[in-house]
Amino acid sequence: MSDLVQVSLKDGIQKLTINRAEKKNALTQDMYAILADSLNNAETDPDIRVSVITGTADSFTSGNDLMDFLQNPQQDDETPVIRFLHALASIKKPLIGAVNGLAVGVGTTMLLHCDLVFASKNATFSLPFVNLALVPEAASSYLLPKMLGHQRAAELLMLGETFDTAKASDYGIVNEVVDPVDLDRTAMAAAQKLAAKAPEALRLTKSLLKGDFETTAARMKAEGDIFQTRLVSPEAREAMTAFMEKRTPDFSKFS
Ligand code: COA
Repeated sequence: MSDLVQVSLKDGIQKLTINRAEKKNALTQDMYAILADSLNNAETDPDIRVSVITGTADSFTSGNDLMDFLQNPQQDDETPVIRFLHALASIKKPLIGAVNGLAVGVGTTMLLHCDLVFASKNATFSLPFVNLALVPEAASSYLLPKMLGHQRAAELLMLGETFDTAKASDYGIVNEVVDPVDLDRTAMAAAQKLAAKAPEALRLTKSLLKGDFETTAARMKAEGDIFQTRLVSPEAREAMTAFMEKRTPDFSKFS
């Protein structure tokens, strides 16, 4: 197994550590596959009571690897990213996000599926889909307005600007902000508390809190269909090529 995602299990807590620091923990297909398989495994392994997702160095994750987007724009229901998003949305056991730094794109949208989110003070968040000429994913176009109302969801998804822990807390995306040195201990302490609770009661409570999975899944599918066409659009090619060439994209030629 690649150690670009480290998977450990101790005392009922499965810990998934995204570990590609030199690329700000950008997620490749192989990394999504490990994350998807691990969450699916958590669902069936009675030794796993709770999962924790975190990152390394200064990044939680900078989102999908943009080179991967450029080189492999074809996505279908069986691709690792789609499998990961489905696992995230459907997992019945508790899921904790421990955001240690940059959380870009799916780095922020995956938090909408977590039950508890802890962030270190230096964490930042962004949903730059439109900046990349893409559309939201992970059902964020459904979950964010439900959580925040239209205007604040539009602010995050249409302006696509980076925001800090103060705003993430204010908007209810993060439960608690801690010093970087305390992040792991805080997240693991919460995980230990959950791991000691009655597992079926927790699963049922989560299911009641989450409500209609079918709506979330349907929105993910609708987003995915549009996302797929956007990936090969001239606008998105310009945005991603500009990132690779370290320049500002020029959308002036598009109408
Ligand atoms: N995909 C591929 N490579 C990425 C990446 C991504 N999502 N995010 C960062 N990297 C790479 C950079 O290309 C750079 O590689 P290099 O050293 O070979 O040039 C390296 O990681 C370091 O990134 P850099 O941009 O120099 O760091 P930074 O601190 O100045 O900026 C980010 C960090 C995350 C703000 C910036 O890299 C960024 O905007 N990344 C793209 C994020 C994104 O759009 N994700 C997709 C969301 S759908």
